Amino acid sequence: MRQNLRIALTKGRLQDKSVELFEAIGLDCSPIRSPGRRLIHALPNYPLEAVLAKAPDVITYVEHGVCDLGIVGKDTILEQGKSFYEVLDLGFGRCRFALAVREGSDFYGTYRTRRVASKYPNVTKQFFARKGMDVDIIKIEGSVELAPILDLADGIVDIVETGATLRENGLVPIEDVAQVSARLIVNTASMKLHKAQIEDLIGRCEAELKRRREET
Ligand code: PRP
Repeated sequence: MRQNLRIALTKGRLQDKSVELFEAIGLDCSPIRSPGRRLIHALPNYPLEAVLAKAPDVITYVEHGVCDLGIVGKDTILEQGKSFYEVLDLGFGRCRFALAVREGSDFYGTYRTRRVASKYPNVTKQFFARKGMDVDIIKIEGSVELAPILDLADGIVDIVETGATLRENGLVPIEDVAQVSARLIVNTASMKLHKAQIEDLIGRCEAELKRRREET
């Protein structure tokens, strides 16, 4: 059995915020700050290894138990479903899923089946299912904002953070779909096997999050 806990961190924006949180709770994250091409890093002053991965893979590693913990956006959790514990809302990586359309277009003003493009087909499907509305969902991998511009879709369901991408492409959000932020997730078996260690890490994070809330 592994002695060290292992955590999967989402590469990119969430990685920086995760490192800031860990440093604030006393973990030396220097190996992650200058990772080179290495993908797995042992922390010098805490029994934790960090793996850097893409968001969907963070969930896969935690579900399979090869990582005990993970930090991943609620967007990916909502899209992929979950069989793990979601233990903490870490408060960073805040954004929202929104339904957006071309400025001036009337998404709801027709009985024709609407086409909606998204990188998140499951989130989109559940959103319209809750409304009892039948839509055709088109899965897009890259910049989904192109779909309504190219007339491939009547609307998109996508992540909105500042709103700049929508604005610069002549799109407007017309409805919120879900709020998103980074979550700490834990493999269900690890939670029992490494209870004390995991509780120590969660406890430190909780204390720091509380301190941040009180500061604002
Ligand atoms: C997301 C999202 C939007 C953009 C929104 O893409 O898909 O395109 O951010 O941000 P804004 O409201 O601040 O403009 P991201 O940059 O994460 O790239 P991705 O296509 O790899 O998801």
